[in-house]
Amino acid sequence: MEAFSDYRPIEREVVNIHEVLERVRKAAQSGFARHVRLVEEYDPSLPSVHGDRDQLVQVFLNLVKNAAEAVPNIDGEIILSTAYRHGLRLTRPGGEGRQHLPLMVSVTDNGSGIPDDLRPHLFEPFVTTKRNGTGLGLALVAKVIGDHGGVIEFDSQPRRTVFRVFLPVVAQDGAS
Ligand SMILES: Nc1ncnc2c1ncn2[C@@H]1O[C@H](COP(=O)(O)OP(=O)(O)OP(=O)(O)O)[C@@H](O)[C@H]1O
Ligand SMILES: [Mg+2]
Repeated sequence: MEAFSDYRPIEREVVNIHEVLERVRKAAQSGFARHVRLVEEYDPSLPSVHGDRDQLVQVFLNLVKNAAEAVPNIDGEIILSTAYRHGLRLTRPGGEGRQHLPLMVSVTDNGSGIPDDLRPHLFEPFVTTKRNGTGLGLALVAKVIGDHGGVIEFDSQPRRTVFRVFLPVVAQDGAS
């Protein structure tokens, strides 16, 4: 709950997403994802985003934690991937028209997949299938990505679940 009651404004700064993912990978690999193979597929030419570094770390930690909790004990694999999508335009809820959200970060796992009945409500708070889950992980992810002007989508089948985050890049003139 803490993250929700903390209504400080987003501290926007220029953030290198690969630094964010590196922090997440290190924390995951030495902790909750010790048993999982973490694969990085990064586009080194990815531009920076304008955002809150700590909140973005929390977003990808939540996604990687869910992935680590879903993969099998043996041969569990999580792929962290970044890509720049030229020309991709998405309509975002509450946004004006189509927005250019070229920066994509995805987290893919080879777990059992997301149960069908959960899908329509996945990003709502308190949706959980875990004994000790709060169901707040993805709700926080959706809120932070929305605050950053981005969108998140998922695609899930047994042995392959992908969460894709799309973000705007820092505007050329420095404005956002
Ligand atoms: N990668 C995934 N593979 C399969 N199911 C997933 C995945 N990510 C999320 N889910 C499903 O979505 C539910 C909600 O996830 P969310 O992160 O919001 O809460 P939680 O993980 O249950 O609890 P918490 O994040 O507090 O530990 C999970 O309980 C799980 O059933
Ligand atoms: Mg979770």
